[in-house]
Amino acid sequence: MTRSLVALAVLGGVFFASTASAQDDLVKRGAYLVNGPAACANCHTPRNPDFSLMAGKDLAGGFHLVDPAFDVYSANITPDPNTGIGKWTDAQIARAIRQGIDDKGNVIFPPMPVPTYNSMSDDDVKAIVAYLRTIPAVQNEVPESKWNIPLKPMPEPKGTAAPSPDDKVAYGRYLVTSIAHCFECHTTPDEHGVPDFANHLGAGGLKITLGPGMDVVTPNITSDKETGIGKWSAADIKKALTEGLTPSGQHLSPPMPFPWFKNMTDQDLDAVVAFIQTLPPISNKVERTEFQKTAFK
Ligand code: HEC
Ligand code: HEC
Repeated sequence: MTRSLVALAVLGGVFFASTASAQDDLVKRGAYLVNGPAACANCHTPRNPDFSLMAGKDLAGGFHLVDPAFDVYSANITPDPNTGIGKWTDAQIARAIRQGIDDKGNVIFPPMPVPTYNSMSDDDVKAIVAYLRTIPAVQNEVPESKWNIPLKPMPEPKGTAAPSPDDKVAYGRYLVTSIAHCFECHTTPDEHGVPDFANHLGAGGLKITLGPGMDVVTPNITSDKETGIGKWSAADIKKALTEGLTPSGQHLSPPMPFPWFKNMTDQDLDAVVAFIQTLPPISNKVERTEFQKTAFK
């Protein structure tokens, strides 16, 4: 071999090694987001009657969500070519996540938190798509969803890069408002049942039906001292996010996504808590339902 060929071979090796590891990093980031702050499995993995996740059906869809506005089944987002999204392009999957439009051009939300995902960075949506390509394909045909309201997709995403994690509150805001969709559950609905983000951000009171006779109502997570979590310490909030336990020992019921939030890094959890503590107080007293108080001890 001549010297230049040796140099080329070495360069080639370096090139492949670095692209392979860039792809590994992307998949790793996607795995972290999907199984941590984004908690996609909270909706996309079907459940047993006791609400535990069905074994071997990770992200295979079919979870039934009912509300006056919709009667939907989560989609199979595994790479199965016939019942999942194996035949979709990367761009189609990214569009479903950030704009709520499927491969045929149909609008697919609510309740998928597409309004939150609309501001997800280009890097993070790419990471999620890359990870979804690597999970086991599960064959699972899902029934069709129906909506009783007019549907509108979200606008073209801006794709703005996430703020630096060194800016704790800004990064916490990004995690909460672009990935972890806290406000899609924790915001008071207006008279049409739509979360009133403008006036009641984080003030709770959204009713979520887990099944017949199984209603839960989301608590107020603003800094209001009487009706919100204004008296909780940062450690208290972190414990609710990771263990599903309140300072008074109440076990949090589904769909509070603590089984996924517990996979978040300490740094990201601290950022989320720091941002949540900046929420202006809104007085709104929310009563837990009887089911919620007793079912998930
Ligand atoms: C609150 C529940 C919920 C969460 C959380 C959620 N989704 Fe969905 N998603 C749904 C429902 C319901 C549908 C199916 C709507 C329909 O039938 O068209 C869906 C559809 C999709 C689709 C379109 C697939 C298809 O075949 O139409 C993709 C892709 C998708 N979700 C990805 C994700 C990813 C990735 C995450 C996490 C970042 C996520 N979703 C989080 C409820 C959710
Ligand atoms: C899919 C809906 C959903 C999402 C997303 C969600 N939560 Fe919750 N959360 C709930 C429900 C429901 C409860 C109440 C459970 C119960 O009382 O049994 C709850 C309870 C809580 C509590 C306990 C409050 C109290 O007074 O007991 C805190 C704190 C909380 N959530 C914070 C968050 C934060 C922060 C995020 C985002 C990082 C988040 N939640 C995302 C549904 C959700």
